[in-house]
Amino acid sequence: PEGDYEKGKALFKSRCLQCHVVDSKATKTGPTLHGVVGRQSGQVPGFDYSAANKNKGVVWTRETLFDYLKDPKKYIPGTKMVFAGLKKADERAHLIKYIEVESAK
Ligand code: HEM
Repeated sequence: PEGDYEKGKALFKSRCLQCHVVDSKATKTGPTLHGVVGRQSGQVPGFDYSAANKNKGVVWTRETLFDYLKDPKKYIPGTKMVFAGLKKADERAHLIKYIEVESAK
């Protein structure tokens, strides 16, 4: 199901913004998510990824982000992203909607 942009925006702010931006190239604790949809994992220039994230070799799409964000450590064993995941499918759908829109601007 299609996520809700406004709900995704609020979730991004409360769960992701401490470590990621999506609307610029800025690096925080995590790599920018600007342009992340359609990009291969581990490709933000200059970001010091873990080998696990760098070598995952997945293209971030609506589907792969949906799986990853449920349980990041399961999807990428060895990731240094300290985030437990979003277990609620509807929350992931909202979040991905927001990321898709913002990350393409
Ligand atoms: C990596 C999304 C929360 C820190 C990533 C990647 C994505 C992502 C898609 C892979 C990027 C790539 O391959 O270029 C999200 C979303 C979050 C979230 C949507 C909220 C739901 C967080 C939080 C932190 C964090 C709260 C910090 C406490 C990191 C770090 C990496 C990363 C350090 C690099 C991992 C590595 O190199 O192993 N995140 N993240 N993220 N994230 Fe997050």
